[in-house]
Amino acid sequence: MTTASAFGKIILFGEHAVVYGRPAIAAPVTHVRATATITPTKDARVWIDASDIARRYALDDAAPEDPIASIIRLTCAQLGVEPRNFSVHIHSTIPVARGLGSGAAVSVAMARALAAHFNRTLSAVEASALAFEAEKLHHGTPSGIDNTVVAFEQPVYFVKGKPIETFRIARAFQIAIADTGIAAPTKIAVGAVRRAWEVRRAQYEAWFDEIGGIVDDARAAIERGEISSLGSLMLKNQALLQKIGVSSDEIETLVDAAIGAGAEGAKLSGAGRGGNIIALVSDETREEVVRAMKKAGAVRVMVTEIRGQGSGIRGWRSEVRG
Ligand code: PMV
Repeated sequence: MTTASAFGKIILFGEHAVVYGRPAIAAPVTHVRATATITPTKDARVWIDASDIARRYALDDAAPEDPIASIIRLTCAQLGVEPRNFSVHIHSTIPVARGLGSGAAVSVAMARALAAHFNRTLSAVEASALAFEAEKLHHGTPSGIDNTVVAFEQPVYFVKGKPIETFRIARAFQIAIADTGIAAPTKIAVGAVRRAWEVRRAQYEAWFDEIGGIVDDARAAIERGEISSLGSLMLKNQALLQKIGVSSDEIETLVDAAIGAGAEGAKLSGAGRGGNIIALVSDETREEVVRAMKKAGAVRVMVTEIRGQGSGIRGWRSEVRG
């Protein structure tokens, strides 16, 4: 039996605009993860056991758009092996369609587990590329940020089509992640933004430029340890996300609750129209903000600490508290 897993993620700044070539910043969330287990069998058919959704089916019978079947086929093709004589079990603690990268994490966990099962190594670049191929089948035009941050397990400054880039975190900061309880498939929000962009291209491009500027300011603030300026940057980013049409009443309610309880900034994270919001908290404000967001309807709140030791990939770490 071979097991591998992959963490979830949050986007700190820049979602949606990143699909249109602007930068975004994302970080792993290490206390939710997807786990894939491969068991050798005598049966030539590959059986997929997705226990979270209570489904067991054969790879051959999977629908063409089945995400688990896709990543199995893609990974086996990459490894140059036939998909046969094994069964897979997939389990995930990452809420689905909440902007936490559950699809990318399932893909990366599966790719890693298959590579291990066939005694092969798969680099982070390869795992990321496979997950990206799988995402493309289901999301249409993904930027690639989810598979990148999930496969590399590092906070990243991401620009579509460019090599992974990391940067110095001069001072640790805490992010509370609150779930609106509303599942919001990425494809639908991204599709809606695409249609609106087609109609009002110049306006949307201008908003994306503004978001790109906020991402660069946020990176500079993180590099200088000016955490207090991150709060207002989050609020500016949220105002633009509202304009491009991906916020919702539930998101605004949680953002207002967080700010009202002392968070220095808050915004939606991921595709929006539901999913999670993130709030900048500190030791002083954390408990009050978490309590206020739960009272305002959050179905679940996690707190992640993002910190760096020195610079570069090895200096990055994302921890979870509370
Ligand atoms: O999968 P989510 O919900 O984290 O959304 C991904 C972020 C988007 O920018 C909305 C889409 C993308 O492909 O980057």
